[in-house]
This record gives sequence, structure tokens and C-alpha cells, in this order.
Amino acid sequence: MGAVNGRRAIYLLLTIGFASVTPGSVEAWQDNGYTNLHVLPADVSRAELGRVMLENTRSLGLPRRAGEGCLHCHVGSLDLPREEWDYASDEKPAKEQARVMMAMVREINDGHLARLSGRQSVEVGCATCHAGRLNPMPLVDLLLAEHRDGGVESLESAYRTARARYYESDAYDFRVGTLAGVATQLAGAGRPEDAVRVHRMNIEYHESPEAHAGLMRLRLEQAFRSGGADALVSRYDALRDEHPPEAFQPGVLDVLGWGLFRSGNKEVARTLFEMNLAEFPDAFPSHESLAYVLMDAGEVERALELARAWVREHPDHRSGAQLVTELERMAGAGR
Ligand code: HEC
Ligand code: HEC
Repeated sequence: MGAVNGRRAIYLLLTIGFASVTPGSVEAWQDNGYTNLHVLPADVSRAELGRVMLENTRSLGLPRRAGEGCLHCHVGSLDLPREEWDYASDEKPAKEQARVMMAMVREINDGHLARLSGRQSVEVGCATCHAGRLNPMPLVDLLLAEHRDGGVESLESAYRTARARYYESDAYDFRVGTLAGVATQLAGAGRPEDAVRVHRMNIEYHESPEAHAGLMRLRLEQAFRSGGADALVSRYDALRDEHPPEAFQPGVLDVLGWGLFRSGNKEVARTLFEMNLAEFPDAFPSHESLAYVLMDAGEVERALELARAWVREHPDHRSGAQLVTELERMAGAGR
């Protein structure tokens, strides 16, 4: 009680004294009772300050109940009446960080964005970056940081916690690509077993072909690395016992094949594309990829034959028609 009212009394005295010296500047001055503003204007109205503080609290995902979220930045206690909280204190580091942020947001809006065009239609606010969480790090980075600090168990529990808390919000991207991307990075960093666990968790949350495809490709790459093309082909057969039939889509071998092609394993890539065409004779990607690889190998006739056969079957398919044109152009240039 005392602290705030006492301060307001002092303010009243100060403003009255001030008023007697320079009456003209006093009109705008309001007795808001605030004593420690460095970013907001000193004479900010109570309504405006309240709006700003609520934005600070909400956009960082802090609890709103009984001012609990205010306590992230302000000194006080849920056991004390709100009037006894010391909002002016700078004791908590988060308050100083928030000042830096408030000044930054103002600079972005009034300085940079205002310079772009006279009419500014989008205001940047705390939520633009924080979107309901204190740490604005994207989920992929956050999970990799957890992995660095505490291994794959830590990563898994961070994901489950974030998902339980934020799934319905826009704080994090929980789509299937997030964990798949994390797994790919782990595999690339020489942690394939951790990558397998992350793929498994992805399948647990997304029973979708895309989630399965990540794990399938990782298994196939491992087989290729340890036993070459033959091992890869027989591993593909073995995958049928481990994944549901819907998981077998043209994209599995297609993406893997192009990866191998780019790393110089053109023969294996071709084998995979032939397998893909045999398994998915009605899919365009299996025709397209094989046609390009045949073209690359100088087998122009068969490449064109494949593409033209597709167009005969699908006369309205635009990408098919483009493929024929492209292959004819390449064939012409090669002559
Ligand atoms: C993310 C940090 C943060 C949160 C959360 C927050 N504030 Fe603040 N608050 C600040 C900062 C920073 C200032 C100082 C602004 C300045 O320097 O212009 C401030 C200033 C104030 C002041 C003025 C204090 C004075 O006398 O100078 C009051 C009152 C206040 N906040 C109330 C609240 C209330 C009520 C809540 C909860 C609804 C809240 N704040 C939530 C960061 C926060
Ligand atoms: C342009 C993006 C951006 C905007 C807009 C933004 N922040 Fe931040 N904020 C960050 C980043 C990035 C960090 C983490 C800095 C670091 O790595 O320590 C951060 C950290 C913070 C922290 C420290 C987090 C902690 O762990 O306690 C607070 C508090 C904070 N911001 C408050 C705010 C408030 C309040 C606003 C709106 C006035 C705001 N931020 C607007 C990007 C932003």
C-alpha cells in the first residue's frame, strides 16, 4: 500500500512545483505515479501502461492469473497485496531485458518500417518474435541445443513438454518436417542411432507416410554405407516388415536416389529409379527421375520413350508435357 501511494504523493508535490515554474508544459503531464520509466514516456497514461504490460505478459506466454506473469519482471509476491509490489524496482534481470526489447520494437516500427513506406500496415510487437514463449528460439534449434547439452533423452523430453504446452498455439512448428529435419541433422553429425529415435518419435506423433519416409531413407542409407547397392536393395525389401504399406510412396526411393546421384553414385541412383518405376508404374516422379538419369547416361531414345508414353496416358498432364519438351531440347542440344 504505502510504497506506491507514498510515491504518488511525492509525484504530486513535484508536478505541482513544476507547474508553478512552466505552466505551458504541464497540460500533457499526468499524475500516473510511475517513477522509473526509461523507455515509455514519463507521462504515459495508466491505461496505456496497462496495455503495454499486458502485451508484454501475453506475448511471452507468461501466466495472467492474479498478476503471476508480472512477477517474471517485477518484484512482488502472490502472498502480498498487489499494491505492495515494487513495480519500479529494477532488481529482476528480465525487466532490463524487456527494456532493451521495448526500445528495439520502437526502433523497428518508428525507425525502420516507417522508412519503408509512409503507410505502415503491420506493427511489429513482442508477439512477432516471441509468439507466446519466453525463448524465441525456433523448435529445431531448441531441440538441437537440448541434444548438445543432455543427449537424445533431453531432446525427447523437451519436445514432449513443448508439445503438451504449446500444441494449440502458434509458438512452435509441430508439423512433421520439424523432427524429420532434426533427425537428418543428427544423422549428418554422425549420430544415426539418435536420429532413429527422433524419427520414431515423429512416427509416434504423425502416423503419416512422410514421417515413415524419413526413417526408411535413413535405414537405406545405413545399408548402402555398410554393404553397397546390394545391401540397400535387400534392406528395402526388409522394410516391408517394419512399415505399413501406405508408407511405401514413390518419394522414398526418389529422394534417396537423387541424394545418391548428387554424391556421384549414378549407377545406384539409376537402379533405385528403375525399382521405383517397377513399383509405381502410375506415378509421374518415377518416370521423370528415370528419364533424366537415362538422359544423363546418353540413353536418349529410352528417356524420350518413357516421357512420351507418360504423356500418351495422361494427355492433360502439364508437367509431363514440359518433361517431353525439356528432353527434346536436351536431345537437340546434344546432337
Ligand atoms: C517482460 C517483462 C515485463 C512484464 C511481464 C511486465 N512488465 Fe511492467 N514493466 C516492465 C518494464 C521494462 C518496465 C519499465 C518500462 C520503462 O522503463 O519505460 C515496466 C514498468 C511497469 C510499471 C511502472 C513502474 C514505475 O513506477 O516505473 C508498472 C506499474 C508495471 N510495469 C506494471 C506491470 C504489471 C501490472 C504487469 C503484469 C500485468 C507487468 N508490469 C508485466 C516489464 C514488464
Ligand atoms: C525481433 C524479435 C524480437 C522481438 C520483436 C522481441 N523480442 Fe524479446 N527476445 C528476442 C530474442 C532473440 C531473445 C533472446 C536473446 C538471447 O538469446 O538471450 C529475446 C529475449 C527476451 C527476454 C529474455 C527472456 C528470458 O529468458 O527471460 C525478454 C524478457 C524479452 N525478450 C521480452 C520481450 C518483450 C517484452 C518484447 C516486446 C516489447 C520483445 N521481447 C520483443 C527477440 C525479440
